[in-house]
This record gives sequence, structure tokens and C-alpha cells, in this order.
Amino acid sequence: MLCYHTGAGPAAGLLEFVSSMVRIVRATQVEIETAVQALRDGELVAFPTETVYGLGANAQNPAAVRRIFEAKGRPPHHPVIVHLDSPRFLHRWVREVPESASRLAEAFWPGPLTMVMPRGAQVHDAITGGQDTIAIRVPAHPMAQQLLTAFGGGIAAPSANRYGRLSPTRAEHVREEFGDTVRVVLDGGECQIGLESTIVSFEQGDVRLLRPGSVTAAQIRGVVGRELLPGANVDSPRVPGSPPTHYAPLTPMTIVPAGEIDAHSDAASAGGRRVAVLAQRLPLRAHKYVTWINAGRRPESYGRDLYTNLRTLDKAGCQRILVQAVPDAEGWEAIRDRLLRAATSVAESDDGSGTQAVLP
Ligand code: TXA
Ligand code: MG
Repeated sequence: MLCYHTGAGPAAGLLEFVSSMVRIVRATQVEIETAVQALRDGELVAFPTETVYGLGANAQNPAAVRRIFEAKGRPPHHPVIVHLDSPRFLHRWVREVPESASRLAEAFWPGPLTMVMPRGAQVHDAITGGQDTIAIRVPAHPMAQQLLTAFGGGIAAPSANRYGRLSPTRAEHVREEFGDTVRVVLDGGECQIGLESTIVSFEQGDVRLLRPGSVTAAQIRGVVGRELLPGANVDSPRVPGSPPTHYAPLTPMTIVPAGEIDAHSDAASAGGRRVAVLAQRLPLRAHKYVTWINAGRRPESYGRDLYTNLRTLDKAGCQRILVQAVPDAEGWEAIRDRLLRAATSVAESDDGSGTQAVLP
């Protein structure tokens, strides 16, 4: 059995075109009022941003923020991002805005950039995990903007997924993750970027890249006019004893060298084992027992569809997901980072021993 999918849907070309025309970008007044009331009542509200859906709570209500952690099953000392509608009330949250941060805000806000800065005196420990810094983002999605402006305060929100799992890029993913635990889910259609925001922090005039995203290192360098400090990734490196994989499907996932995806599909499906493949082209030949998604060669659409595609493959009843390694080129950094975090192993090239290197 060979199932072909092209991208996130059955006829991605056409659907992409249609969905780009009917993207839902604004909520009704009633929806916004309901969501604002829920936030004021200390309840959780899931809302779309241009990166992924967030699971939001009133950032000034520590009990509400703690509910986020309970719902996600997230360890209590992980800090969360505070979302604002604009930088106008930044001084309520941040003690001192570094010079580079002002420039980056000017260049990329509203947008998919999160900045970690010294925390203000009034900020609760539930937000910062007790650290001396706070992460702030001004999202661009019109529905996030509507909600933030109507609420008038900061909304603390991690991605709206259970801890360690794939981030949601559609409202139905949030429902799948949380059912009725989240009272309000604002449906803003599919997230346009589909990968979490770029995160930076500041150290004595230098900028450190903590998480790659669609605002690239090169773009940030261009604005701050200096090299970036290498990233100690915020989602903690995968060392023995550290938390589980991030952004991960439940099915074991292996990244395989680009030119060997067909050979690996054959080998992995030998004897009738079902295999799921995330590739950047169609298969060279028909494989039995393979569910194959061609996610294409453009990083923008590959990234936008990545989590939806991994969700689809995770549900395909396969014993393994094989992912064709993505190019080592500009524009693919965030995708490569998320794939490595989701993978349980990386297969070495056939030129070597052909053995599989299991990630630490
Ligand atoms: O695109 C995004 O950033 C989405 C949308 C909803 O805004 N949010 C998101 O949140 O991805 P989350 O919690 O899944 O990832 C935020 C990361 C976490 O790894 C957290 O540890 C880190 O940001 N972070 C938050 N505050 C921090 C701080 N003060 N210092 C260092 N890292 C921080
Ligand atoms: Mg997350």
C-alpha cells in the first residue's frame, strides 16, 4: 500500500491557494469579549499567532499562569513568554530595554521574535520561573492583536501543546491536545509560519540566539551590526537524564540522508512493516506499506506544514517515521533544529558504516 500526500492536504496546491484566500483572520466581537472575560476570570484561552497557537492566561494572575503548567503537564520552573499588543507598556514588564532590543523591536515587532530581557519588579515568579529575566513577544496575527488590545494587559502563553509534544498550528490541534480543559479556543485558521518564534537574549551589548525561527540569524546580525553569540538552546540540549524530546511525535522518528530516503523506506518496510515518510520529493519508485508526504523544497511551506505533516504521519499507524534530511542552507535552520529535537535517531550516510547513530 502506497499512500501519497502532497504537503499538508490531499491536493496541497489547490488547497494552499484556497486556504490562503479564506484564512480566518479576525474574531467576532462576541468571541473576543468571551475570551477577555475568561482571562479576567483566571481561565485559559488558546489563541492563534503567526507562529503557533498559544495557551494563554492573564500574566498578572499567578494562579491562572499555574493552570497553564497543569494543563500542559509542564515542569513548574519553566519560564513562559509574555505577549503584548505593542511595546508601549514594555516598561511595566522589563527593567531596562537593551539598545539592541530596541532596534530589533523596531525591525521585527509585531512579528515572530521573542526577546529575553531583565525582568521588571512587578513580574511574578510564575512567569519567569524565578529567573531575573522575562521573555516578551509582540505577535502580528490580527486575532492575537485583537485579543491583546481588548484585554489590555500581558498574556502569558507557551505553545498550546502538551509538554514535549508537537506544537499546534490549527485550532483543531489544540482541541485534540486539551479537549474541554481549555474553555475558549479562538480559531484563526492555519498559522502562517508554523514554527515557534526566534528567541534572543542580551549580554553586555551582545545578542545570543537561543532558538532559531523565521527571523534568521542573518537578519538579526543585519540589524544589530555584530556577530551573534552561539545559542545555548532554551529547550535544553538532549543530554542523558534531561527532559524528553521536544516537538515530538509518538512514533519513533529517524532522519535519513537526503539521497537515501527510498533505500531506507524499502529497508524499513521490509516484511510488511508500515512506514511513514516525510520527504521533499515524490518517491523514485512505488514502495509497499509506505505513507509518503512530499513536503516540497521551499522552507516557507515546509516549515508552515511541518507539525501538521508530523501529526498526520503519527496517526498513520506506522512503526517508524523517516524524514529526508533537509538542506544545510539559509532558511532551513529552524526546521533543522525542530527535526533534530523531534527525532529519536539520525541515520548516517551509506558512505560511512551505514549504522544508525542514536541521539544522546
Ligand atoms: O512562537 C512562540 O514563541 C510561541 C507562541 C505561542 O508565542 N510560544 C512558545 O512558547 O513557543 P514556549 O513556552 O513553548 O517556548 C518558549 C521558550 C521556552 O523554551 C522557555 O524556556 C523560553 O522560551 N523562555 C521563556 N522565558 C525565558 C527566560 N526568561 N529566559 C530564557 N528562556 C525563556
Ligand atoms: Mg513549546
